[in-house]
Amino acid sequence: MRLTILGGGGFRVPLVYGALLGDRAEGRVTRVVLHDPDAGRLRAITRVLAEQADGVPDAPQVTATTDLDEALRGADFVFSALRVGGLEGRAHDERIALAEGVLGQETVGAGGIAYGLRTVPVAVDIARRVARLAPDAWVINFTNPAGLVTEAMSRHLGDRVIGICDSPVGLGRRIARVLGVRPEEAWIDYAGLNHLGWVRSVRVAGRDELPRLLADPALLGSFEEGRLFGADWLRSLGAIPNEYLHYYYFTREAVRSARRAERTRGAFLLDQQARFYAGTGDPGVPALELWNRTRAEREATYMAENRETAGAGDREEEDLSGGYEKVALALMRAIARDERTTLILNVRNRGALAPLDAEAVVELPCRVDAGGAHPVPADPLPDHATGLVCAVKAAEREVLAAAGSGSRATALKAFALHPLVDSVNVARRLVDGYTAVHPGLSYLT
Ligand code: G6P
Ligand code: MN
Repeated sequence: MRLTILGGGGFRVPLVYGALLGDRAEGRVTRVVLHDPDAGRLRAITRVLAEQADGVPDAPQVTATTDLDEALRGADFVFSALRVGGLEGRAHDERIALAEGVLGQETVGAGGIAYGLRTVPVAVDIARRVARLAPDAWVINFTNPAGLVTEAMSRHLGDRVIGICDSPVGLGRRIARVLGVRPEEAWIDYAGLNHLGWVRSVRVAGRDELPRLLADPALLGSFEEGRLFGADWLRSLGAIPNEYLHYYYFTREAVRSARRAERTRGAFLLDQQARFYAGTGDPGVPALELWNRTRAEREATYMAENRETAGAGDREEEDLSGGYEKVALALMRAIARDERTTLILNVRNRGALAPLDAEAVVELPCRVDAGGAHPVPADPLPDHATGLVCAVKAAEREVLAAAGSGSRATALKAFALHPLVDSVNVARRLVDGYTAVHPGLSYLT
């Protein structure tokens, strides 16, 4: 089986390859094709993968190319994990929003809109090429903002594109742990959009255990989201939100602490990864060791500012590894081998979550088999959550419209209508600021 990884020179690719090396079962991936427009990054990651494969019998063969069409031909699965504009672009997204006093974050608020506006045209081009060159391939989209990008691609690939995220899985795992059950014993009733979802109940042996969790301050204080949102607020909500909801419920504090920070997350990662890629140019440096060190540092600082704002303490050791690669591999296996499983994924709604329309990509538990991912019909969200989800989806749709038409006025609407952008004048200055620095936005006129 052949797996193509777009963004193949990306820093997280060794996580995926590591997971593939651990898969000994029938029908596993035997060939990995890395695609990246940057040959230097491909060389660096290829070195890391070669060191990972050292001594592993029948390790999947790895090839690398800068030619997108060549990478796609013959693929059974395509992992799309791009970062249009690179980490430099991410740092601009964050900085320009924060300078306006609004949230500058990779996927949420103004930063997420800017990132979406430059990523959607690229993702659509890829989707069109996949439809032409590898029409039977399944596309697993890691590219952020994942829900929006998956929806853009689904307009060309239908349900053959599935978006993934590690955050709902991580949340489910943490909740199961504090309840003292194994994750596979618990049905996590999670619903929303990517980075905008809530756990509304946790069924263990037919019983909802969420009320027990919400009633117990010690249990709530023993895991990340419990500390992040605080017992009182979680009890008022009657649900456990995804960690990204921190940006909505504590916007002012999040903006304040991001503005005070010495540098943004993107700027930190830009510097860190520049050192990693430069380091791998030295043949005397063991690339895998350097990668491991860099990764540990990255994970230890993930969303640290949110925990600091909330006084929530450090991230637990066992949550350090996000688990993207595990979700991706579980999904690929279930489809390739028809191994039925349930995973929380980003797929077209098809009536599963009211009041969103059938084409809207939502994040829900899905039954997965050889026919793909089928969202499990969900109870409607409470009104406050429906309000937020619909507002954010409306802003996302303006992004899709702007990417389709190239209209700057539509892009402005996307910013202005987002609940985390508090003035049309701010939105105007954001459009000016972002189009001035991002070559990937020059299509807006
Ligand atoms: C989580 C989210 C991803 C996001 C990542 C950012 O894993 O689910 O969607 O890309 O965090 O982590 P970073 O280390 O790049 O800040
Ligand atoms: Mn995510």
